[in-house]
Amino acid sequence: MIVVSNLSLRFGKRILFDEVNLKFTEGNCYGVIGANGAGKSTFLKILSGEIDATSGNVSITPGKRMAVLKQDHYEFDEFTVLETVIMGHKELYGIMKEKDAIYAKEDFTDEDGMKASHLEEKFADMNGWNAESEAGELLGSLGVTEEFQYAKMGDLSNNQKVRILLAQAIFGNPDILILDEPTNDLDIETVGWLENFLAEYKNIVIVVSHDRHFLDSVCTHVCDIDFRKIKIYGGSYTFWYEASQLASRQKSDLNKKNEEKRKELQEFIDRFSANVKKSKQATSRKKMLEKLNVDEIDPSSRKYPGIFFKQEREGGDQILNVQNLSLDPWFKDLNFSLYKGEKVVFLSKESLAITNLFRVIMGEQKPDAGTFDWGITINKAYLPNDKDSYFNSDLNLIDWLRQYSVEKDETFIRGFLGRMLFSGEESLKSCKVLSGGEKVRCMLSRLMLQNPNLIILDEPTNHLDLESITALNNGLKNYEGTILFTSRDHTIVQTIATRVIELTPNGMIDKSSEYDDYLDNDEVTQRRSELYNLALTT
Ligand SMILES: Nc1ncnc2c1ncn2[C@@H]1O[C@H](COP(=O)(O)OP(=O)(O)OP(=O)(O)O)[C@@H](O)[C@H]1O
Ligand SMILES: [Mg+2]
Repeated sequence: MIVVSNLSLRFGKRILFDEVNLKFTEGNCYGVIGANGAGKSTFLKILSGEIDATSGNVSITPGKRMAVLKQDHYEFDEFTVLETVIMGHKELYGIMKEKDAIYAKEDFTDEDGMKASHLEEKFADMNGWNAESEAGELLGSLGVTEEFQYAKMGDLSNNQKVRILLAQAIFGNPDILILDEPTNDLDIETVGWLENFLAEYKNIVIVVSHDRHFLDSVCTHVCDIDFRKIKIYGGSYTFWYEASQLASRQKSDLNKKNEEKRKELQEFIDRFSANVKKSKQATSRKKMLEKLNVDEIDPSSRKYPGIFFKQEREGGDQILNVQNLSLDPWFKDLNFSLYKGEKVVFLSKESLAITNLFRVIMGEQKPDAGTFDWGITINKAYLPNDKDSYFNSDLNLIDWLRQYSVEKDETFIRGFLGRMLFSGEESLKSCKVLSGGEKVRCMLSRLMLQNPNLIILDEPTNHLDLESITALNNGLKNYEGTILFTSRDHTIVQTIATRVIELTPNGMIDKSSEYDDYLDNDEVTQRRSELYNLALTT
């Protein structure tokens, strides 16, 4: 169990949350939700002891082991895959290392002998002899085959690394598992795997996510950060969402009496529970829905940012011409031309293939072979996958955005930031401390200021909250220029794309089509499996 008492956190004058009292108990999975910048990541860091709260405290039942999913994809580059996974169980890994050091000694004393036997005993108690095989099995179930288990992390693709870091976090079944946006860099199959795993997991899970489907598959409780408070509600994300919508309707309806409102609420809960019981998705965790509560649910204070892209001048007919473009091992012999106003989604099982293609056509990376030519009228704006390099300075948000604006006037810049939900004091904070979603909002402002006639977006919805995703989706729908993008958000791809280009290790598929039609097309399905299977046999 984790008990949070009187917890408060402030950064300067800004209070993120105040006097928070909560309990997290065994067998439950808590989905931590809240707008971008609400304090989700900060709250998890306090729970795991990485940072201190301003006041109050967190206590964990003694002897309970906590594991946290690591975000840094490069941290374990020097270690083998198996070792990286075992490191997830810090104590066990420490004992292994200590034992090895003693046995490696040349002058092995009696004292060393005693120490070694003591360590061996502890090691055996922790089931240490099975650690490697368990780690191997876990990796196998995540699709990391044996041939990779002795490879160095640094030699692996991003797609493999994120699965290994996930294995590290869940290795040895920690009593408390903490995950901050785990699905961001995962492929669809692994997200499905994780959903099943968490739905059946018996210990405490605390997970931040902006993905509704994921939250609904795994959570028994919602932990909402809003109004400077953190509150826990029993039930799924959808239950919380609908209940808070109802609360907001009721709040504005002054004619209804309290008694009527209470009745309406009770009916809503009964209806909801009945539907859940009927649904097939009955994991062992869904039993908790017996105790749904909406006590004191508040309508949420989430806001929509204003996202619209304008073209300063329309592009000519010549947009982009790509010929025989190759970059090993990501893509080879790409050939395509773009037409004005096309919205092209790029797909690939290996997301880095697309990231690298975008980097090449943006001139950030040299291809191995082939050429690409931009039309001279093209004014392109680019949202890269990795945004951190843009935020390494101490500039405040106004000065940060001013760098990218022709109009330098502070009122203009402040107006722009306000539209992106940074107002007053907020626009004076350092760009270094921005949350994941806030960084994306700033990058989107930078794109808007460019008034581009072509936009390249690499996973633009990563880190964004639902309100911002909706605003971005609408902004892109209304944009008349050309778009090249990749996204795992089904709705965005379906509503924006007019053409699909899929990169496989053995060539590309290029089809003018909506996304759903592309997925349903038999010819395409067959072509895909040929192209990918070819990769397996070579
Ligand atoms: N050292 C700091 N000084 C001032 N403000 C900070 C500091 N660290 C974080 N913040 C601010 O605290 C807020 C909460 O940040 P946090 O990363 O916890 O948000 P989050 O809820 O995880 O958001 P996201 O959904 O975008 O990941 C943000 O507005 C951030 O800019
Ligand atoms: Mg965060």
